[in-house]
Amino acid sequence: MGYELAVKALVASIVLGVAVAGVEPSKKMMWRRQVPAMYVFGDSTMDVGNNNYLPGEEVPRADKPYYGIDLPDSGKPTGRFSNGYNVADFVARNLGFEKSPRAYLELKARSHLIPSAITSGVSYASAGAGILDSTNAGGNIPLSQQVRLFRSTMVEMDATVGPQAVSRLLSKSLFLFGVGSNDFFAFATELAKRNRSATQGDVAAFYGSLISNYSAAITELYKLGARKFGIINVGPVGCVPRVRVLNATGGCADGMNQLVAGFDAALESLLAGLAANKLPGLAYSLADSFGFAARTDPHAAGFVSDDSACCGGGRLGAEADCLPGATLCADRDRFLFWDRVHPTQRAAMLSAEAYYDGQAQFTKPISFKQLAQKSS
Ligand SMILES: *[C@@H]1O[C@H](CO)[C@@H](O)[C@H](O)[C@H]1NC(C)=O
Ligand SMILES: *[C@@H]1O[C@H](CO)[C@@H](O)[C@H](O)[C@H]1NC(C)=O
Ligand SMILES: *[C@@H]1O[C@H](CO)[C@@H](O)[C@H](O)[C@H]1NC(C)=O
Repeated sequence: MGYELAVKALVASIVLGVAVAGVEPSKKMMWRRQVPAMYVFGDSTMDVGNNNYLPGEEVPRADKPYYGIDLPDSGKPTGRFSNGYNVADFVARNLGFEKSPRAYLELKARSHLIPSAITSGVSYASAGAGILDSTNAGGNIPLSQQVRLFRSTMVEMDATVGPQAVSRLLSKSLFLFGVGSNDFFAFATELAKRNRSATQGDVAAFYGSLISNYSAAITELYKLGARKFGIINVGPVGCVPRVRVLNATGGCADGMNQLVAGFDAALESLLAGLAANKLPGLAYSLADSFGFAARTDPHAAGFVSDDSACCGGGRLGAEADCLPGATLCADRDRFLFWDRVHPTQRAAMLSAEAYYDGQAQFTKPISFKQLAQKSS
């Protein structure tokens, strides 16, 4: 190769490298899968298009600009509540996949469910979903239903490649969860409607049903053959722009965050208890999205805004939805929040990297990387 060509190639790669440095996980981890497949459960932080296939006006959908504006190739909305990839995509990328497995309802519509389920996985995540069926009922696929859809997928997988192969596949695959924020939004909204604050009894009953429903979902998947669980806890939902804007100072709703912290502690005990006693051979990594948000200095991480929506309108960008005609910030990589509720793709990327290999700062008892590599 001539000198000039070599220089051109080098310059091109440097330019590209700079252009993508904001969102690309390091190349060496890419395209070598550390688990054979991923099955994803959760809410809008994980949804990759399921809600686009749900009927009804009340269904939350990220199907309009400027959602997806930073996705490679298209720049078009895909159902992800992000300017680009979401945290499920970045967990997948760290594990050597191109992105999150595709949405169950999309795969179903394209008659591609079983090939995908066998070769890379399926996402059942649905925006608006909660741990409780009652959360935003009717406008999403709640967690219990997501688990039922997985079970029916598995029955078809068994019929296609045989139960032994499926059992081997599932025991090595990652079952990724990100759910719970909507239950807290719904709980707060319900109290506000009734114009009262939560009593200790309310809180105990709420935690009790959250934990028993979460436990039921994990236990059911375990019975079906799942062994590796990556579970992202609930973050400080009192700090999203939609909640901050209700505070005259723009500060976080501390009471709401304390309520979440109590649940996160209960979730940690639940998982430790299940692994130690009830579900032998269960391995898990609990990702601390609450701690990640609380203990990461946004400015040191390159964000100029940690309280406002990049895409929205009004005070904190939180008084309008991210729809065509909304105000868009100048540099999306420098905002923590994309819309009133959801992180930008850069924020999602940083959290996924911390869960994957963050020197145990934000995962217990092991990282996603260690979970993936654990023999089963
Ligand atoms: C809510 O309750 C407080 C006192 O408990 C009362 O002062 C206030 O007017 C009530 N607000 C509404 C909208 O009912
Ligand atoms: C889930 O929680 C609801 C209360 O919201 C409860 O009625 C139901 O029994 C729970 N389901 C499981 C499987 O624990
Ligand atoms: C509003 O924000 C301030 C911090 O700016 C905080 O101290 C206060 O507790 C917040 N109010 C509520 C109701 O959470």
